[in-house]
This record gives sequence, C-alpha cells and structure tokens, in this order.
Amino acid sequence: MAIRRVIRMGHPLLRQPAQAIEPGEIGSEKLGRLIDDMVDTLQDYSGIGLAAPQIAEPVRLAIIEIPDESARYDNLESVPLMVFINPVIEIIDPATHGYWEGCLSVPGLRGFVERPQHVKISYTSVQGEALELEVQGFAATVFQHELDHLDGKLFIDRITDTRLLAFEAEYERYLLPMEAIHDSEGVRH
Ligand code: NI
Repeated sequence: MAIRRVIRMGHPLLRQPAQAIEPGEIGSEKLGRLIDDMVDTLQDYSGIGLAAPQIAEPVRLAIIEIPDESARYDNLESVPLMVFINPVIEIIDPATHGYWEGCLSVPGLRGFVERPQHVKISYTSVQGEALELEVQGFAATVFQHELDHLDGKLFIDRITDTRLLAFEAEYERYLLPMEAIHDSEGVRH
C-alpha cells in the first residue's frame, strides 16, 4: 500500500486535461497499483472522491466512496467504493441544487456550487466492462466535482457568487448557521 501526496491548487497538473487510459492498460499491474494507491490515499485523507490528477497522475481515472458514517452524518445516501475509468458525464436534468463543496487539492476552503442533480456516467470498470450509472442529488454533485478534475477544473471555477467562498472556520462560524436557517438541507462534506 502507498499513500500518495495530494497536489494542491497552483500545481499545473491540476489545470491540465488528463489523458484517456488505453484499453490495453486496463487490467494491467501498473493500473491496478495506481488504483490501490488512490484508494489508500482517499482513505488516509478521509475524502469521498479522488481523481488521478490529484496525485499527479494525469490520466482519466477517478474513485468515489461515500462511507455509511459520513452519509448518515450529513443525511446523504452512501456510495460504495467505485472506480471509474475514462468516465463521461451526461446531464439528464439540468435543474441545479447547491452544496458547499470542498476539495483535497484546495484544503481549508469551502465554496457554494450549484450543479445539475441528475446525471448519467458512462465509464469502463476495472474489469474492462463498459457500464453506465445514473445518479441523483448530492452524489450527482460529487461525480461532477471529481470528473471536473479530469478536465483541469476545480470547484472554485464553478462558484458564481464569490462571496460564497470561505475558509472552513469562517464557513462553520458564519455561513453554516445561516444555511441552516435558509435551507434545512445544508450539507457539509
Ligand atoms: Ni476535488
């Protein structure tokens, strides 16, 4: 097992579109090792999603896991550990909902981002099968956030009102209580 360092905003690799993984690489020992490292890293950093560019591997690979405990805490649906190779996202319903997002590559900040809440992901599994997955609600936001990393985008690029970008301590102190008043679905993740 290997916990890798997560690179942070300002590192040029976070701003570069990632390369597709070739069919011949799927099932290889090298790709298997990279996926294992990503899982170890995600769990060590206590994140819910990680894209390969965040550990300086510029390939189209992302993992997502919303564990039961954190799902229950935030009143969300849990998502088992899933690996997405060359994922492509399609918006099923453009109606948006906003959440306060955070990112392991943008530590210490939270920003309010509105995104469509019903999307379909087409991807290749670790076994090389072409699969599709439809997701709704918060999970749809998580998938869009992770897949944005594969196109060199960060959640801060999606913030439309920059007053809603805050340090975590200030978010907890001033914005979260306001959120609780305005929207009972105020979500921390
Ligand atoms: Ni992120």
